[in-house]
Amino acid sequence: MVARSRFAAALLYLFCLPSGLAADFSFTLTDQEMAQAEDLYQTYCALCHGEDRTGYRADHAPSLRSKTLLSTGYPRFIYMTIGWGRSNSAMEGYHEEMGGPLSEDDLRLLTRWLGQVEGVESLELASDAVAGDAVVGKEVYAQHCAECHGARGEGVSAPALGDQALLAHASDHFLRYTIANGRDGTPMTGFAKTLDESEIDGVVAYLRSQASGWSPTPPKLVAPPAPEEYVLNPEGETPEFTLRDGRYVPAAEVVAALEQKKRFILLDTRPASAWQRSHIPGAVPMPYYRDKERAGDNLPNDGTWIVAYCACPHAASDYVVNNLKELGFKNTAVIDEGILVWTAMGLPVTAGEALATD
Ligand code: HEC
Ligand code: HEC
Repeated sequence: MVARSRFAAALLYLFCLPSGLAADFSFTLTDQEMAQAEDLYQTYCALCHGEDRTGYRADHAPSLRSKTLLSTGYPRFIYMTIGWGRSNSAMEGYHEEMGGPLSEDDLRLLTRWLGQVEGVESLELASDAVAGDAVVGKEVYAQHCAECHGARGEGVSAPALGDQALLAHASDHFLRYTIANGRDGTPMTGFAKTLDESEIDGVVAYLRSQASGWSPTPPKLVAPPAPEEYVLNPEGETPEFTLRDGRYVPAAEVVAALEQKKRFILLDTRPASAWQRSHIPGAVPMPYYRDKERAGDNLPNDGTWIVAYCACPHAASDYVVNNLKELGFKNTAVIDEGILVWTAMGLPVTAGEALATD
């Protein structure tokens, strides 16, 4: 199974990346397909983008209904974002090539649905580069954009504009249009009235100057641990955690418990692809989109500590922990900082192996 999916992933990598870009979205979904796509959406996406797609349910996940996004980003930008995700954000790549869980068909269905359900006409944007002065743009950025998008484009309360996947999927005119017109129904207001054309062109040039290239690095898919390997240090002592709000445990205490070989279970509640790329050593993949009733599958319900984490830092892990509590699990916690901060703190992670490309 693993060998087969690895082979499939290699094939996809060689042949499918450009075909992904050329995927056809001119088909119309039947009522049945609409329902199927909505199911996919509610299972995999609603946690952060909200049941009604207006975004901001968790982690500053953008609106997927904004007309400016759909008229300029549908289908290619949206398809690529769902499939391959953004680095260092809660937005993971969901394509099976990245470790899943969505097949190419699911991905196309979901993308088509996001467009069809809102029925927004696509705008023809020019595909040439925007000629602007990046030096001017840098100033404008610091003054008008940094407070939300971060001084280095790392994202604060808004998407990380320095993200290489974003820059690869967004054309210059897509960026220009977004900056001038904003995104309706979101905190991103248009700057057409505040900035003149050369300043807007300058910011686009500045953002573009931050692009150093992107190519997806599909992980070499590995098998998750077997149930008998779920409990870390089965002979170890029970850890003592200090919980904030009865739930959140500081990363430092989890590291200490790992180092002192305490007995507990770590759950990675992000999509399977994220676990494949990198995870805290010994963590068991338990994605948030698993059926509620199955959240406790193969986990001992005997008071063993179960510590969950996600990138978010809480949305997916809170969800899984709530499900476990409902199933009667006693000692559950969530790593307060989430894995992005954990990684930035230099704490240990097991990095998945990238698939050799030669
Ligand atoms: C008040 C906060 C705020 C400011 C200031 C702001 N933005 Fe935004 N920006 C946002 C938010 C929030 C979003 C996501 C909106 C959504 O839901 O689609 C966004 C989205 C964007 C996007 C689309 C990113 C994507 O992932 O599709 C671009 C490009 C962008 N902003 C550029 C800029 C630039 C350039 C400036 C400065 C001229 C700026 N923004 C100023 C909050 C802000
Ligand atoms: C754990 C939270 C989370 C989940 C679950 C999630 N997303 Fe996202 N998504 C985000 C965040 C956060 C961003 C913004 C990334 C950034 O800051 O650069 C985003 C960005 C996006 C964008 C780009 C929007 C824009 O304005 O540029 C699309 C499209 C998208 N997500 C679609 C989806 C779909 C479809 C699913 C389900 C398959 C999904 N997301 C699941 C958190 C999530």
